[in-house]
Amino acid sequence: MSIVVSGLTKIYGAQLAVDAITFSVNPGEVLGFLGPNGAGKSTTMKILTGYIPQTAGKASVCGFDVERQSLEARKHLGYLAENNPLYTDLYVKEFLSFVAGLNGVKNKASRVKEMIWLTGLEREQSKKIGALSKGYRQRVGIAQALLHNPEVLILDEPTSGLDPNQLAEVRQMIRDLGKEKTVILSTHIMQEVQAICSRVVIINKGKIVADDAIERLQHKATGETVILVIFKQAADKDKLLKISGVKSVNLSGEKTWKITGQKGIQEAVFEFAVANQLTITSLSEEQQSLEEVFKELTRQV
Ligand SMILES: Nc1ncnc2c1ncn2[C@@H]1O[C@H](COP(=O)(O)OP(=O)(O)OP(=O)(O)O)[C@@H](O)[C@H]1O
Ligand SMILES: [Mg+2]
Repeated sequence: MSIVVSGLTKIYGAQLAVDAITFSVNPGEVLGFLGPNGAGKSTTMKILTGYIPQTAGKASVCGFDVERQSLEARKHLGYLAENNPLYTDLYVKEFLSFVAGLNGVKNKASRVKEMIWLTGLEREQSKKIGALSKGYRQRVGIAQALLHNPEVLILDEPTSGLDPNQLAEVRQMIRDLGKEKTVILSTHIMQEVQAICSRVVIINKGKIVADDAIERLQHKATGETVILVIFKQAADKDKLLKISGVKSVNLSGEKTWKITGQKGIQEAVFEFAVANQLTITSLSEEQQSLEEVFKELTRQV
C-alpha cells in the first residue's frame, strides 16, 4: 500500500474537521478525493504531508508513519498545496533550485532542467513567479512537487482556475504521472475525476460516504439500473411493467423504452422479448452521472 489512513481524526478547537476516516491507496492508483466545501479534504492532505498533526488515528505513506517518521514519509511524497503557495519574488528556475536544495536532490541543475521541460515551463523559466499566469504557477507547483521524484503525489485542487486549454494540458500531465506514481487529487470537477481517476473517495462533513471505482459508484448510489431498449416491434407498456424487477417504464423515443429497475433486469427483459416474440435491436445501460451521485451522497440534511 502506498497510503494507509486509519481512524484519522482532526479537531480544530471545537471544529471536528475529519472524523475517524479510514481508506488506503494502492501503488499506481489515481484516487479522486471529493467532497463539498469544508468536508475535510485539505485537512486530510495536510496531515498526510506532515504539515499539521492529527488529533487521533494513524496515517502512513510508503510504510512510513506521517507523524513519527515524518521526514522519511515526506521523502516519498510530493505535495501541491491548496492555493499553491509559492515565493512570488523568486524566479522560476531559482525557486526550483532552492526547493531541490531543500530536498537534498542530487544533480540539482539537471533535475531542475528536466522538471522545467516536463511541466512545459521552458519559456517561463526566467520569469519571476509573481509574473506568471495562474496556469503556469500551477505548473511550477507541480514541478516543485516532483523534483525529488517521489512515489506518491498529493495534489490539492491542482486544476482550480485554469483555462480550458491549460486544464486539458495539466490533466494530461497528471494522467501521465499517474502511470508511474500513486496520486491523490482533490477536485470539484466531476469531469476531471472521470478523465483522470480510477477510484473515488467521497468525504462529507469529515466522514467517508463512498470509496469505490467510479463505475461501481454510479450503480451503487441508487442501487437501480436504467436501461434503454429498442424493440423492432411495438411493445406493450403494461406488459413491460410486469417484468420481474422492473419499477418504471417510459417510452423515450419512437420505439425506445427507458426501463428502470433492479440491477440485472436485462436478463428478464431478454426473456420477456423471447416469450413475446419481440426482437431487441438495441439494449444499453444508462449511467448515472457522477455529479448526480455526488449530490446524492453529500446532500445536506
Ligand atoms: N486552521 C483551522 N482552524 C479551524 N478550523 C479549520 C482550520 N482549517 C480548516 N478548518 C475547518 O475544518 C473543516 C474542513 O476544512 P478543509 O479545508 O479540510 O475542507 P475542504 O474539504 O478542503 O474544503 P474546500 O473544498 O473548500 O477546499 C472546515 O469546517 C474548516 O472551516
Ligand atoms: Mg480544500
